[in-house]
Amino acid sequence: MGSGLDRVAICRRRCRFARVSSLPTASDSESPPLSLGVLVSGNGSNLQAILDATGRGELNARVQLVLSNKPEVRALARARAAGVPARCISHKDYPSREAFDAALVEALREARVEWVVLAGFMRLLTPVFLDAFPWRIVNIHPALLPAFPGVHAQRQALEYGVKLTGCTVHLVDTGTDTGPILGQRAVAVRAEDDEASLSARISKEEHRLLVDVLAAIARGSLTVEPGGAAARPRVALELP
Ligand code: GRF
Repeated sequence: MGSGLDRVAICRRRCRFARVSSLPTASDSESPPLSLGVLVSGNGSNLQAILDATGRGELNARVQLVLSNKPEVRALARARAAGVPARCISHKDYPSREAFDAALVEALREARVEWVVLAGFMRLLTPVFLDAFPWRIVNIHPALLPAFPGVHAQRQALEYGVKLTGCTVHLVDTGTDTGPILGQRAVAVRAEDDEASLSARISKEEHRLLVDVLAAIARGSLTVEPGGAAARPRVALELP
C-alpha cells in the first residue's frame, strides 16, 4: 500500500459516477453495481440492511456471496431467503489463521467479489486476507472509535459512563478496529439504558450508516491516499 497508485486505482474505477445524493438515479442504475462479499458470524441484521437496501434500489450493489465461520447462524438463513449464495467455511477446519483466510479469499474470488463487508464477523484477519482486498474491506463497529474497540463495545461504554456513543464504519487494517474511519453516527446514552436497550438503538444507526457508506463507495465517492511509512492513509468519503 505504499504508492500514490492506490489512490489512482480506486478513483479510476468509480469516480466518473461520483455524486452527492445516495438516492437512486438514472446514472446509478446504469453504473455497474458494487460487487460485495459479506462475512458474518451470527445474527446478520447488518447483512439484512444491505440486502433490503439493494432490493429497494437505494444501494447500487450486488451481494455475490455470504460467508460465515459458524454453521447454521441466522445470517446464513437471511442470505438464502434473499436468494444469495451463502456458505459456512469454519475456521475450525483449518490449521492456521492464514490457511483459513486463504480459503475465504479463494471463495470470494471465485464469486468475483470486489469489496468485502465484515458485518459482525468475529475473526481477526491476517495479511493473507488484507492483501487480497487492499483497502477494500469495510467493518462496522458499535462504538465511536477509537473509543471502545474490540468486543462488548456497548458494555464498555455503559461501564465507562459515557453520555454519547454510536457506531463507526471503517476500512480494515492490521489492527483491531483501528483502520481509517469512513463514517460515524452518534447515539445518546440514556440513564435507564442497559446493554440490550443501548445495543438496539446503536443497531438501528449501524444499518443506516453501513448502507450510506456502501452507497457512497458505489457512487465513486471514496478516495484512499496512502500516508508515509508509519502514517495512516487519508480517506475522504462524501456521505449524505
Ligand atoms: C454489530 O453490532 C456490529 O457492529 C458488530 O457486530 C454486530 C453484528 O450484528 N461488529 P448483526 O449480526 O449484523 O446483527
